[in-house]
Amino acid sequence: MDSIFIGKNYTFLVSTDSTNTRLKELLKLENVLEGTVISAGFQTDGRGQRGATWESKADENILLSILLHPKFLSIQQQFLLSQAIAIAVQKFINYYLKDQVVKIKWPNDIFVGNKKIAGMLIENILEANFIKYSIVGIGINIKQLEVLPTATSLKLESNMEYDHKQLEKDLFYFIEKEYLLLRSGAYAIIKETYLNSLLGFNEVRKFYITQSEQEMLGKILGVLDNGMLTIKDDSSGIHHTFDLKEIKFL
Ligand code: BTN
Repeated sequence: MDSIFIGKNYTFLVSTDSTNTRLKELLKLENVLEGTVISAGFQTDGRGQRGATWESKADENILLSILLHPKFLSIQQQFLLSQAIAIAVQKFINYYLKDQVVKIKWPNDIFVGNKKIAGMLIENILEANFIKYSIVGIGINIKQLEVLPTATSLKLESNMEYDHKQLEKDLFYFIEKEYLLLRSGAYAIIKETYLNSLLGFNEVRKFYITQSEQEMLGKILGVLDNGMLTIKDDSSGIHHTFDLKEIKFL
């Protein structure tokens, strides 16, 4: 499983602030080839979604950022890239954990059972109505055994040893495959695959609504093109849409 362009231009940093920040700074100085990867053993300022920090022990996990040039996507289509990358990381984890249930938790966390194994922070640089560059930051727990009670790692799930270089190589292959599918315009396939991999899709689950500070039993019906989640309230039958800050899974 070899990628053609993702990871061909590759830098490994023993320690850095954040691989996303490094790639963003590099872009200000020079032209950066599509598929360029900055990977790190440790981050002093690892960043997560919603302004959270991303903590990871030194030399135990995958911490990397990939530069893409998805100029074919308009600003309104940004969520398609997020979906394609989430599918790729989900398939990658599933390839290593064949017998486990690996799902995407909306919008793009990867879960094994009910525990998080990977997250991504995608930062897009826009020009006119299009995405000029996308910095795709990915953190995957590999060897770390001490994790939050809500998290897991490949080693915790399988008790196997992993080769970091091989893992990264395989990850690049899965990402490139999904990215090329996206580039070919197969949007309907990507949307369908995403929904089929979505944790809790079409199941009654409990959610917490931030604004009303109330719990709700509901079913995920789908995701809008702008990435908002549509949930059908189980008691009233009313459909609601939420963005990331408006809802929590319980
Ligand atoms: C999340 O689930 O909140 C997203 C986590 C993203 C973490 C990765 S690690 C490599 C890259 N560099 C960062 O600072 N963040 C991303």
